[in-house]
Amino acid sequence: MRILVLNGPNLNLLGRREPEIYGLQTLADIEVLIRNRAEEHGIEVDFLQSNHEGVLVDAIQEHRDWDGFIINAGALTHTSLAIADAISSVGVPAVEVHLSNVHAREAFRHHSYLSPVVWGQVVGFGYRGYLAALDLLYDRLSREALG
Ligand code: DQA
Repeated sequence: MRILVLNGPNLNLLGRREPEIYGLQTLADIEVLIRNRAEEHGIEVDFLQSNHEGVLVDAIQEHRDWDGFIINAGALTHTSLAIADAISSVGVPAVEVHLSNVHAREAFRHHSYLSPVVWGQVVGFGYRGYLAALDLLYDRLSREALG
């Protein structure tokens, strides 16, 4: 079971960026927590963060034979038809994660181009959302593997 964890623009600044909204954990801290949880499940995980839309689209295409994606596209969530098209093109189940509760914030954060093409969203639980997304994908993929 292989799961790719994608993070978009400015998420490389986690820990320093508006910690009252996004928390004190750095992206490296979060990746360690995800890796530990993945090891418990026997899942292989890989990580990619980019500030560039096309790099994220390329990564989605290149991992089209992987089993699941966890994606926090940052601000590209609210603008990127290209990332949405990439996710629906490859047909890999994806969970959309947002650290903050985007629905309790500015109106421009309420719309997601990704929500129609992902399996589901985990929103507003800080870094724990990534761990929940991993558990949910693990549960789904395990059930599918049993037939
Ligand atoms: C975010 C929410 C987005 O609106 C914002 O642009 C981000 C982070 C979140 O994790 O809460 O960069 O995706």
